[in-house]
Parts: sequence; C-alpha cells; structure tokens
Amino acid sequence: MANLLVTDIKCLAGILENGIQKLSGKEMAHLESISNAWLWVENSLIKDFGPMETINWALFGPIGYTHVSAKDSFVLPSFVDSHTHIVFAKTREEEFVMRIKGKTYEEIAEAGGGILNSAKRLQEMSEDDLFLQAKARLDELIAFGTGAIEIKSGYGLTLIDELKMLRVIKRLKEVSPIPIKATFLGAHAIPTAYKANRNGYIDLIVSQMLPVVAAEGLAEYMDVFCDKGFFTPEETDYLLSEARKYGLKAKIHGNELGYTGGVQTAVRNNALSVDHLEYTSEAEIECLLNSQTMPVALPGCSFFLGIPYAPVRQMIDAGLPVCLASDFNPGSTPNGRMGFVVSLACTQMKLTPEEAINATTINGAFALNLSNEIGSITRGKRANFYITKPMSSLALMPYFFGIDQVSKVFVNGEFIGLNQ
Ligand code: NIG
Ligand code: FE
Repeated sequence: MANLLVTDIKCLAGILENGIQKLSGKEMAHLESISNAWLWVENSLIKDFGPMETINWALFGPIGYTHVSAKDSFVLPSFVDSHTHIVFAKTREEEFVMRIKGKTYEEIAEAGGGILNSAKRLQEMSEDDLFLQAKARLDELIAFGTGAIEIKSGYGLTLIDELKMLRVIKRLKEVSPIPIKATFLGAHAIPTAYKANRNGYIDLIVSQMLPVVAAEGLAEYMDVFCDKGFFTPEETDYLLSEARKYGLKAKIHGNELGYTGGVQTAVRNNALSVDHLEYTSEAEIECLLNSQTMPVALPGCSFFLGIPYAPVRQMIDAGLPVCLASDFNPGSTPNGRMGFVVSLACTQMKLTPEEAINATTINGAFALNLSNEIGSITRGKRANFYITKPMSSLALMPYFFGIDQVSKVFVNGEFIGLNQ
C-alpha cells in the first residue's frame, strides 16, 4: 500500500469530480487542471491534491511516504485501453507485405490469412508460452502509461483454444497490477472447418463455449465481429441474446469494412461499446445519440490498414461521447502505445489534445465499467498516473508523434518505470 507525495507539478490535468462516468460532446474539450500543484497518494489511492500554496506538510508528517518532484512536467491520469487483442501467438508481417503489394485486408482474410492465420498459430502454442508473451506485452504497455486494459479472446476458434486464451487472460489478471477486463470473442471469424456450416459454429459457441466461459467466470463481455464477410446482424443478435442469459454484456466490432448495421445492432442489444466505426454516417450517429453505447474508434487500425478514420470529429460535434483505444493485435494494429493513439487522434481525426486525452482516459473507463475506479485525477480513485517529460504545454504530447512523452509511470501509487 503505497503512500506518495508529488510536488511542484507544472500542471496536474484530467481532474474530475467524483461520480462522472463519461464526457460527451462539448464537455470533451475541457481538461480540468491545476498549475503548480501537489498530489497526495495514501494507501495506493488518490487522497488529495491542490495548488502548491495550499500544501499542508503536517498532513504527511506521521506517515512514511515517497516524495517525487514533477517540476516542469505534467501529471496525467493513466490511459484506459478498452480494446486489445494482446494474447496472440505470432506476428503477421508477411500479410503486411502482401498489402504493400496491393492485396486488401479482406482479400487476405478470404484466402485463409488474417484471423484464421492467427488462429492456426495460436492453436499450436502452449498456454504457458502464450501467457509469457502476453505478459511481456502487458508490461511494456504499462510502462508507457496504460493503467487499465481490456483483452479479447478470438484467435482460438475451437472450444479448447478459446478457453486456453481466456485462461491466459485470467492468469494475467492474477499477476497484473492494473485492472484487466476479459472479453469472449469466439465470434471473431468462422473457422475453416465450419466454412460450409456456419450455423454449426454458431451452435458450438452457444451450446459449448458460452456455458464454460460463464461457469469458470472467464469473461465480463461478449464481442462479435459484426461486419461484411464475418457475422451478420441477425447472427449477432442471436449470439448476444444467448450471452445475456449468462450475464455477459455486449461489445461489438462493427462498421470497419462497410455500412453493415453493426452500430444499429450494438444499440439494439444495449452494448456497452461499439468499436471501429470507420464507416459511420448520419444514420449511425443518430442511432448512437439515442443510446448509452460508447462509440470507440481505433485510429491505429486505420493508420496501419490505410482505411478511413472513424469520423469522430462529427460525432463529438453532434454531442456524442467518443472513446479511443489501441486495438493492439497482430493483423490490423501491431502497436498498443496509447501516446501514438493520441497523436493520430489529433493529426488525423482533428481532435484537440484535451479531447484526445479525455477519449483515452475517462471515456475508456466508461467502456470498461471502470469509471468509479480509474480514468481521472479524482479523490478515492486508484493512483494510476504518469509524469511527463518536461513539456511547455499539453499539445507537445501529440505534437511529438511516435515519441512518447510519458516519463515516470505510477500504478497504485508505486513507481513502475522510467522512459527517457
Ligand atoms: O479489431 N477487425 C477485427 N478484428 C481485429 C483484427 C483481427 C486480425 O486481423 O487479427 C481488429 O482489427
Ligand atoms: Fe479489435
């Protein structure tokens, strides 16, 4: 249980009142902050903060604590990455080269590459090896400022291998200092063996996978890739209604490859989030405005695949909340650095730095039901935050694209690591 005092903070930013679950529309443009501030962490939680002139040293006297100066630096709440696939067996750089030479992501998937390629590799790898690889990825992401994360299955595609993936995620939860939420994504693709019998695979998910996932408490959420060439809205409705019987709330991969009804399907199923959204028109925005479903955009995927960016500027201008996540996976986004997501949000999606930070912190927390625990500088929340390199203003974070400004990382008030 760490006690920590950070003083001389040039700017303590991302402060929110208790109880705020998410920020929408114009609210996203504001990042509450205090210049020349202190921050006090007691028993691993944020206990208090304020301007330096209000500091009362007597408060800290009787307790042992670590003292850190954040002179010339910003202190920001850790990122909440609400969408990742960090359990995977092998990279897919050969498909990357095929795309450079002109093949599309969909053509590669149709020819048995893509998700099916990852599934084949994962089926060949032991649970222990998968765990070790994923743990190394998790540690690296934490060191670059991720303070809570979601991890999906979906590269198993057989009963044994989906459970293997979810058990790896369960083991990661046991050793991780940051909160992890697990999502069952058995409906990521139709496996080769069921190509001529897609209903057979859907039955397998419903009658064999879901009962074990629920009985062993292996997932909080159920995700479906509801898109062109993958699962239809009708199939998605059925899968999500079966998952609901076990208390699994919906998350959806939708509208990545076309206007395929993914958003409407998510809202109809009261999904916690609908993710991707590269193809979003007025109709989808209107539908989301009448819902509690968080739109999640994944700019790293657009960057790497060369597909359109989700129109999040229009979404925010229409009054919607927007969340941004990494989508770290070996096919569409081999990168989980949230600092880069913030840069892409500003350079490609025309979000302001403040909007991009809100989209990757408090709104990420909403997309994982974690808003009461993390995602802002708030009294009583977990002390997951980072100190930046010296910065003249917040805009330097996205400005130095590809160069992380996250310097000293703290998780539960403990110093985790230093990036130069
Ligand atoms: O979110 N679009 C679906 N699933 C993943 C990519 C899967 C893969 O290519 O391995 C995504 O981008
Ligand atoms: Fe994804």
